[in-house]
Amino acid sequence: MDGTRIYSERPKTSGAYMTTRNRVEAYFDGTATKTWERLTSDAPVSGIRATVRAGRDEMRQLIIDSLPGDLRGARILDAGCGTGALAFELAARGADVVGVDISPQLIGIAQKRTPSAVAHKVSFASGDMLDPALGHFDHIVAMDSMIYYTADDIAGILGGIAPRLSGKMVFTVAPRTPLLMAFWRLGKLAPKKDRSPVMIPHSPALIAAKLETGRLRDIRRIKSGFYFSNALEFTA
Ligand SMILES: C[S@@+](CC[C@H](N)C(=O)[O-])C[C@H]1O[C@@H](n2cnc3c(N)ncnc32)[C@H](O)[C@@H]1O
Repeated sequence: MDGTRIYSERPKTSGAYMTTRNRVEAYFDGTATKTWERLTSDAPVSGIRATVRAGRDEMRQLIIDSLPGDLRGARILDAGCGTGALAFELAARGADVVGVDISPQLIGIAQKRTPSAVAHKVSFASGDMLDPALGHFDHIVAMDSMIYYTADDIAGILGGIAPRLSGKMVFTVAPRTPLLMAFWRLGKLAPKKDRSPVMIPHSPALIAAKLETGRLRDIRRIKSGFYFSNALEFTA
């Protein structure tokens, strides 16, 4: 699977899911690749971005702490892995990690950044996180990769992934804060053709109400400057 594009079988998804996913791919694989590469590196960033970076570091740690303490031998999917930071940390804790992202550019960066100490524990592929060809996992993590999807689509992602998950899936959503709700309304006002993916703020209870299978638990929110994110745990 090393970096090759995988689309074994079309995942069962809605038209809205595909529209969002295509917009996310265009954004991260083109418009935002360089910005994202810098934000996820050690290169200095300005004030607001520094607070976002600090919040994301805190969230990465919270996700790791929400998984079992002993990850040796566990098979973990990093769904929407971006440039790979979380995948590397999980592999360093002994997990066998598959990182998948819809952006081939970000997967290329993740491959280049793979520390040699964990190279045998992590593999990357570009494609859809819902592709059944990725296989079965003990745990799945999705840090800030489902933040652009509607509650229906998030419930659909969880339902699609459930048969391939034996432990837990820890993922994040944008919380319904007044600031994020205002950004979301502004984003909706932009002409359709100009829209970059817009985060959709969610209430965990509303997502839970849409689940056809499994259970959802609210873990905790993290706020750091302009970074707001709410970690949730899904068990199938
Ligand atoms: C905000 S970035 C977060 C990346 C990484 N998880 C991190 O925290 O650094 C969101 C990522 O999710 C990926 N993504 C969104 N929807 C996806 C999908 N359906 N399948 C695979 N990747 C997806 C995007 O390409 C992007 O790299």
